Amino acid sequence: MGLGGIGIAFRRCSPSFLSMRFGACHQPRFTSAVMFSHQMSTNAESVAARLNSAGFIRSQGFIGGKWTDAYDGKTIEVCNPATGGVITNVSCMGGRETNDAIASAHETFLSWSKLTAAERSKRLRKWYELIMDHKDELGQLMTLEQGKPLKEAIGEVSYGASFIEFYAEEAKRVYGDIIPAAMSDRRLFVLKQPVGVVGAITPWNFPLAMITRKVAPALACGCTVVVKPSELTPLTALAAAELSIQAGIPPGAVNVVMGNASDIGDALLASPQVRKITFTGSTAVGKKLMAGAAGTVKKVSLELGGNAPCIIFDDADLDVALKGTLATKFRNSGQTCVCANRVLVQEGIYDKFASAFSKAVEDMKVGDGFGEGVGQGPLINDAAVRKVESFVEDAISKGAKVLIGGKKHSLGMTFYEPTVIADVKSEMLLSREEVFGPVAPLLKFKTEEDAIRMANDTNAGLAAYIFTSSIQRSWRVSEALEYGLVGVNEGIISTEVAPFGGMKQSGLGREGSKYGMDEYLEIKYVCLGNMN
Ligand code: SIN
Repeated sequence: MGLGGIGIAFRRCSPSFLSMRFGACHQPRFTSAVMFSHQMSTNAESVAARLNSAGFIRSQGFIGGKWTDAYDGKTIEVCNPATGGVITNVSCMGGRETNDAIASAHETFLSWSKLTAAERSKRLRKWYELIMDHKDELGQLMTLEQGKPLKEAIGEVSYGASFIEFYAEEAKRVYGDIIPAAMSDRRLFVLKQPVGVVGAITPWNFPLAMITRKVAPALACGCTVVVKPSELTPLTALAAAELSIQAGIPPGAVNVVMGNASDIGDALLASPQVRKITFTGSTAVGKKLMAGAAGTVKKVSLELGGNAPCIIFDDADLDVALKGTLATKFRNSGQTCVCANRVLVQEGIYDKFASAFSKAVEDMKVGDGFGEGVGQGPLINDAAVRKVESFVEDAISKGAKVLIGGKKHSLGMTFYEPTVIADVKSEMLLSREEVFGPVAPLLKFKTEEDAIRMANDTNAGLAAYIFTSSIQRSWRVSEALEYGLVGVNEGIISTEVAPFGGMKQSGLGREGSKYGMDEYLEIKYVCLGNMN
């Protein structure tokens, strides 16, 4: 990227005995006694060294176009979940840095929002091109800090970039309205205008796409942004911010602060200059943000947890159902909000499906994301593994049966065996909550009505999947499901051109597509009077 690299010292991530609190600087990521593959760490180290010397690894926050240290000099380790090695230490920022980022975003808003849509569009398009030009490096960076297999990471870079390309085009289509007036001497207009400064809080599971899905429509509308990426995966965000500057997006339009999540979140919520909060993450944090945004009455978009049912009917094409269920369940090692969380299988096909599915899952290759043919990487940290373990233990203690997997992988670290569990019941944790890991619980049902009732028996409502050969059933069940996204005979349905978002406690608002623009726009009514 034409920028000097920083010094990288390879060492293991901090152990658990350091005292920490959630979201604070120096949070431990790995606590277990780990097996550490020398081969894995050597590969990762050479990739990191290459990316570093090419200027892709940044260690500071990005405020007003300047690389900035935390004001108190604190740093936080960014670790590779596959090896436990420290990739780098990044600035651990808090409220003061966030307030400066907001001030810079606010100042830049005054000029960025005044540019023509065509001008904003051109710069967004350039940003898209630069990201695509560097998709291999960004993919490698993502695999290093997040753990997903390299092919999947490069796929996420293209997916993330697609939002920028799409919104570069949509920037030119922010139309208002002329309304026929009820009085002959009046002319009524509707203008759509950018909301202002946006606070974007993003998760670790998609280190690029969840940022671009928010930042691209915001910039396209004329807003400016303060991004808080997850402290677990800030490196992809920082590299993307650097490319935004190279694309001609002005300093201050995209700011990145990371570190102390609660202090950054509080500063974003408290500031009257931040007019919108957009968040992807847990339902619990989403609720806090929604409550916190009330103080200054900000617009809020929330993309929260799911509990996706994947319904396999007796009349499904078995191969299509197997392929689709594998894709939705094991994407990113089960760590997406739209991963199938419950696989509901009709009794007539249950045994056949369970055995073919278990066989396919057994064949999956687990390993470091840089390894040849690896389809399943590590989980993000120890806490994720403990959650998966506790859900599996709960199911077994209540009578469920492990068909394949069911324990930590022999590779050690945070690797978990791809798992299939049969005889799961609706009262088990695996049915009630999002497991966010590579565990597929199978639940048996008798009738279509049973499947719909079981599928809707949750407070979540993000994604659902149906596998059936009946067009009538696919329509009927799609209408009955209380979910924002429904995949019919398809396991991967996310795309920049379609609206993404949940019903019930899975969130508010939509991202992607033409609907994603509305989240960053105010509607203003103008009445011209005395026109005769
Ligand atoms: C998510 O898990 O939050 C996003 C998944 C997607 O965009 O498909």
